[in-house]
Amino acid sequence: MNQEQNNAAMRAQFPVLQQQANGYPLVYLDSAATTQKPDPVIEAINVYYQQDNANVHRAAHCLSARATQKFEHARDLVAQFINAPSREQVIWTKGATEAINLVAQSYGSLLNLGDEILLSTMEHHANIVPWQQLAQQRDLVIRVIPLTANGELDMNAVSELLTERTRIVAITHVSNVLGSVNPIAQLVKMSHQVGAKVLVDGSQAVAHMPVDVQALDCDFYVFSGHKMYGPTGIGVLYGKTELLNAMPVWQTGGEMIKKVSFSGTTFNALPFKFEPGTPNISGVIGLGAAIEFLTSLDRVAIHNQEQVLLAYAKQQLEQLSEITLIGSPQEQMAVISFVVKGEHHSDIATLLDQQGIAIRAGHHCAMPLMDALGLNGTLRLSFGCYTTKQDVDAFITALQKTLEFL
Ligand SMILES: Cc1ncc(COP(=O)(O)O)c(C=O)c1O
Repeated sequence: MNQEQNNAAMRAQFPVLQQQANGYPLVYLDSAATTQKPDPVIEAINVYYQQDNANVHRAAHCLSARATQKFEHARDLVAQFINAPSREQVIWTKGATEAINLVAQSYGSLLNLGDEILLSTMEHHANIVPWQQLAQQRDLVIRVIPLTANGELDMNAVSELLTERTRIVAITHVSNVLGSVNPIAQLVKMSHQVGAKVLVDGSQAVAHMPVDVQALDCDFYVFSGHKMYGPTGIGVLYGKTELLNAMPVWQTGGEMIKKVSFSGTTFNALPFKFEPGTPNISGVIGLGAAIEFLTSLDRVAIHNQEQVLLAYAKQQLEQLSEITLIGSPQEQMAVISFVVKGEHHSDIATLLDQQGIAIRAGHHCAMPLMDALGLNGTLRLSFGCYTTKQDVDAFITALQKTLEFL
């Protein structure tokens, strides 16, 4: 198959992409917000509800046995996908946000007055606010890694900010605004040298690059299913076993217990200790299907295609005198932010939407980054495995028309 046939075959698997938006063929350039879902994911969820629907881990009947088997198989798939040493280190959450809250509240309860948390300027609110809450509750200190002029972590500042008081470093793998890829392995090494643990927010990484938690040696790694072709409402917390075992339970209830009496309760082992209540079974099964979908692709070829499109889109945007690209990191992943001179980002996005182009405008849940950049928002393009050069061309044509119109 040539490139065009490859693209057509890929796009044919995504029903959402087969529609018109405002009278134009839909051009979806907002995959960093959420990716579209391929047929196998939609089908896996349908089959679960049509044939296997039952609660898990209560296998008194065959439906429950099938649901449990699929549910736990998805955990194996995630463990393999991120190279976790064991399946018990894969904990289901609602998404990256809930996973970070879990670590902040559970691991965070082991921190003491004056202990320091190191974040970066490019974090999503999901990796800021839970730590701020914890800092207020326990009188901790938050320090922030600044960025260089091209939108990368200032690694010289990291050496100064990491001290023997630093207990946790919470850092994104890939920026959802700038696309910057952070040097996680190096950061983990530096953090471990001062005895700090590292949580990596992999929300924008997992769909675009191989992630090996053992090679990174990170202590926690979190991500959401919906940004990697899976359903919404399901995500993953990976953690090192000794840390997860030492952490107190967070939310409590059924499923996470070994024995309950009115004189006290003993808790279940990992991973169930952190999974109270009936889980998002269809979400887990859908995420399993998304991982099977992703691993069935030639991921190197997809990565290369995304990189070619990134370079092409940047080059096209740079030719428009009204446009300023935001950030120019050396390693950039599937995301481009830009502003239009004299125009509000949301006006541009609305006019693009009227031409069938879906992109994101605003602060992208990264207000501290916007403050640091001196902006009130940007426009953001983001790519997935189904994005083509035709998408970028349609976007550039619509943007040019919009600029002429304004
Ligand atoms: C870098 C980053 N972290 C965290 C999140 C939060 O993900 P969710 O809303 O799925 O929990 C996002 C979502 O945009 C993100 O881009």
